[in-house]
Amino acid sequence: MTAPSTTTSTDDAKQPADLAFGVDVGGSGIKGGIVDLDTGDLVGERFKVLTPQPATPDAVADGVAEVVAHFDWTGPVGITLPGVVTEGVMRTAANIDKAWIGTDVYDLFSRHLDGRTVSVLNDADAAGMAEDAYGAGKGVDGVVMLLTFGTGIGSAILNNGNLVPNTELGHLQVGKKEAEHQASSRVREEKGWTYEKWTEKVSEVLATYEALFWPKLFIAGGGISRKADKWIPLLTNKTPVVPATLLNTAGIVGAAMAVSQGLKT
Ligand code: BGC
Repeated sequence: MTAPSTTTSTDDAKQPADLAFGVDVGGSGIKGGIVDLDTGDLVGERFKVLTPQPATPDAVADGVAEVVAHFDWTGPVGITLPGVVTEGVMRTAANIDKAWIGTDVYDLFSRHLDGRTVSVLNDADAAGMAEDAYGAGKGVDGVVMLLTFGTGIGSAILNNGNLVPNTELGHLQVGKKEAEHQASSRVREEKGWTYEKWTEKVSEVLATYEALFWPKLFIAGGGISRKADKWIPLLTNKTPVVPATLLNTAGIVGAAMAVSQGLKT
């Protein structure tokens, strides 16, 4: 697909400032697309390549460049990564190749993307920004927490739309174990747990988050949020829990928002 022309004459044509490009790097796929920042919708389809194995920085950056090239997009690019990014450096790699730890991600991606401007941020933070602005958190004042249940548990905290980056609550110890080692979607699959059994663990984890952060709303994201009706009603928390609504585009949309805002974490 080709990026929309910037010189079209129709009244409702999107101007370049309304569009941004996001790429979401996950354990199995690298997905990207052009985002309409007025609506939070993708312009056209998203495009995905498989995450290379091993998912080393240069191999992943090649995949990101392939996704960007697919759209003939030549502007700035927002990119998510499944780890902590501070001062332009990836600090952790719980569920991705350990070679990421200490990588200067701005240098990496600008080398693979012809020196263009990039913004790089945590994957759950990006999804949280997108859900808060356009999805399940839209119009909700105060503290909103998004959690992604996947291979790990990602977290994002927003207060009136302002992100506190890199909260990493999946690694908070709840009882004897880290939250993501007992309540991620991967743990449910590996143990063959029913939704009833798994939601007991999720309720415990959310109860700990409630006691520490007192959010107004939890948004449940990650692939398992597509089955929300099977498990969200089983949770026993006092804070309302709603499923994410952007589903597999939230990371892309949040990455696009980040680069359009010049966000650096
Ligand atoms: C990582 C987080 C990430 C989450 C979801 C966790 O293991 O530490 O940075 O957001 O997984 O990918």
